[in-house]
Amino acid sequence: MSDSRPIGVFDSGLGGLTVVKELNRLLPKEDIVYFGDTGRVPYGNRSENTIKRYAREDENFLLSQDVKIIIAACGTVSSVASDVSSELTIPFFEVVSHASHEAVRVTRNKKIGVIGTAATIKSGKHKEYISVLLPKARVIGQSCPLFVPLVEEGWYNANDVVVKETVNRYLTPFINEEIDTLILGCTHYPVLSEAISSVLGEGVTLVNAGTATAKAVFEFLKTKDMLSNKEKGENQFYVSDKADSFRTQASILLGDELDDNKVRLVSLSSL
Ligand code: DGL
Repeated sequence: MSDSRPIGVFDSGLGGLTVVKELNRLLPKEDIVYFGDTGRVPYGNRSENTIKRYAREDENFLLSQDVKIIIAACGTVSSVASDVSSELTIPFFEVVSHASHEAVRVTRNKKIGVIGTAATIKSGKHKEYISVLLPKARVIGQSCPLFVPLVEEGWYNANDVVVKETVNRYLTPFINEEIDTLILGCTHYPVLSEAISSVLGEGVTLVNAGTATAKAVFEFLKTKDMLSNKEKGENQFYVSDKADSFRTQASILLGDELDDNKVRLVSLSSL
């Protein structure tokens, strides 16, 4: 048996593309419908109620596209609004639990750093998962609110002076903590991996939530006989604003020049 309906993925903006990239690599036959809420990014400094409302609207849009599963490719939604998804009638995946499992698997000294948006760090969700999986672990959280605007602006080159300085300021405190693992708790952050590693050194393993989540999705679809049997899957992107700049940035991040018709604008009122 197979299921050729698309996988639905959403984020506040570009960040979820780091999850799409991993899905494309691991599940090349799957179609993906992506919604990036570029008209309302960032989510991370908003209240819990607002993030939940946005998540519900994003999921409703994806449901209208007849997707077979939904992935909240957003650390913020995964941390504070996962309960919204209990209303869904199709399988739902978030990124926090999978990233936490992966961090527990790779840490040697049990000192794990977590970076994310203000809402994600305040929620303490990663800590919650890790303390169950590895009770002796020490988990140190740090919000990095300027990272999302940098990435949305296309500023992520590790040699850029603004990028260097911003990453330095947020991450230097981790050096004294002697962490050996850092969870990139916001899906925008893998884009800054090179800059992050140049501050923390190669000895600190960076956990990309997208990689861990894509593996979990693959296992799930396989077990449930829901994999697509298409020759090759396609990505279709929808955004709530600035389709052109999304297309430019997405082409760079995915390493694939996207045609105009691959990025469509949807009006928020139709969500
Ligand atoms: N990619 C989102 C996350 O993982 C970005 C959050 C935001 O929009 O502030 O948290």
